[in-house]
Amino acid sequence: DLLAELHKFEELFTVSAETLQKITDHFVTELDKGLSKSGGNIPMIPGWVLDFPTGKETGDYLAIDLGGTNLRVVLVKLGGNRDFDTTQSKYPLPSTMRTAKSEDLWDFIAECLKKFVDEEFPHGVSEPLPLGFTFSFPASQNSIKEGYLQRWTKGFDIEDVEGHDVVPMLQCAIEKRKVPIDVVALINDTTGTLVASMYTDPETKMGLIFGTGCNGAYYDVCGDIPKLEGRLDSDIKPDSPMAINCEYGAFDNEHAVLPRTKYDLIIDEQSPRPGQQSFEKMISGYYLGEVLRLVLLDLCARDKIFKGQDLTKLKQAFILDTSFPAKIEEDPYENLSDVQDLFQSVLGIQTTSAERKIIRALAEKIGERSARLAICGIAAICKKRGYKTAHCAADGSVYNKYPGFKERAAKGLRDVFQWETKEDPIIIVPAEDGSGAGAAIIAALTEKRLKEKK
Ligand code: BG6
Ligand code: GLC
Repeated sequence: DLLAELHKFEELFTVSAETLQKITDHFVTELDKGLSKSGGNIPMIPGWVLDFPTGKETGDYLAIDLGGTNLRVVLVKLGGNRDFDTTQSKYPLPSTMRTAKSEDLWDFIAECLKKFVDEEFPHGVSEPLPLGFTFSFPASQNSIKEGYLQRWTKGFDIEDVEGHDVVPMLQCAIEKRKVPIDVVALINDTTGTLVASMYTDPETKMGLIFGTGCNGAYYDVCGDIPKLEGRLDSDIKPDSPMAINCEYGAFDNEHAVLPRTKYDLIIDEQSPRPGQQSFEKMISGYYLGEVLRLVLLDLCARDKIFKGQDLTKLKQAFILDTSFPAKIEEDPYENLSDVQDLFQSVLGIQTTSAERKIIRALAEKIGERSARLAICGIAAICKKRGYKTAHCAADGSVYNKYPGFKERAAKGLRDVFQWETKEDPIIIVPAEDGSGAGAAIIAALTEKRLKEKK
């Protein structure tokens, strides 16, 4: 009986090579649409990084990073020889912050910054420290110094920020505390990852995050971005590079190609922004544990597992973060004793050996689906830009910590491209510290551009 259930789920969560190819092709069209004047589902936000890093940039910069698991404050020293040093502090983002008041969020960030600056510069500073703000949400920009939040993603839901420029909000909280900091650039984490990785590895073609959210950035050329018409200075040529934060978590919001299950529909309906981030909701770390929870609840509702047990905890939305399915997959298959302990300690549920096997298999399928779908964004950018070879720099908790993600993603790319070469020409590589170094390098590039203009 349970075995039959398992087969059903295996089928439901399997994404064939043909489906991946179909999704990728549609993805290419959608990337183009996003760059067009009328726009599309994928925001394709010009990031106003108009230069490639040379690896020779130097200077000391502060960076903060909001939007992943931790708020990070980083002091970056760019060495100028494709090298840099960082000193950082991580402040876990309190879970209540996702739905806090706008003022509380900015105050929390400014406090963290103050603590960091007091520690790192006990004797004060002679000039305000330039800061690059990595704000990992879709934010429209007409220049590098601003970011109008289009909408919150990843379960954030804070009033009075959507539609506004977040840079003055942060600067104001900083000034209230008299911290000597000047916000000079706002960037996305993917753009930071792209630029930081390119600083050390010129083969880098994109910056990717597989973490709480899922997104990618790459360099396009200004002349191929129709929606930039009328927004460019006269010194910018059609072949000038422009970093694009795709925000492709929003891919397929119109539900044309993604094989969504009823569990994906529930996640969407119950999220603070239904109808948004369709692709991301099937892939990223914020949702993987929740998919597993919904499948398990469904099995319980049909009396297939956990018979007669107290399901109060399992019924709590988002009780299982991504580390939960990740730990299930790390457990060697023999007796799955870690799975046993995990269910006992987190959910107060006793499991039978047969149940543990199905739980394990489910976690594998959910993880595999995530990795296989995730690469469609990479494949689409390569197809769009005609890249035959590429280093795709990736960061984020799912990429770094989820067991099997890297292998499954590489296999997914092979399924899309059907290479016959011995080595894969397009590979995903671990990124450099994007939100720290990336923000610093972008701040340095911006300063240089401004100086040259004067
Ligand atoms: C970090 C990057 O390592 O990964 C951040 O430096 C990024 O910029 C983060 O936002 C994403 O991962 P997660 O899993 O914390 O969302
Ligand atoms: C979400 C955000 C995006 C970010 C990604 C990874 O998709 O909207 O800006 O890059 O998560 O953190």
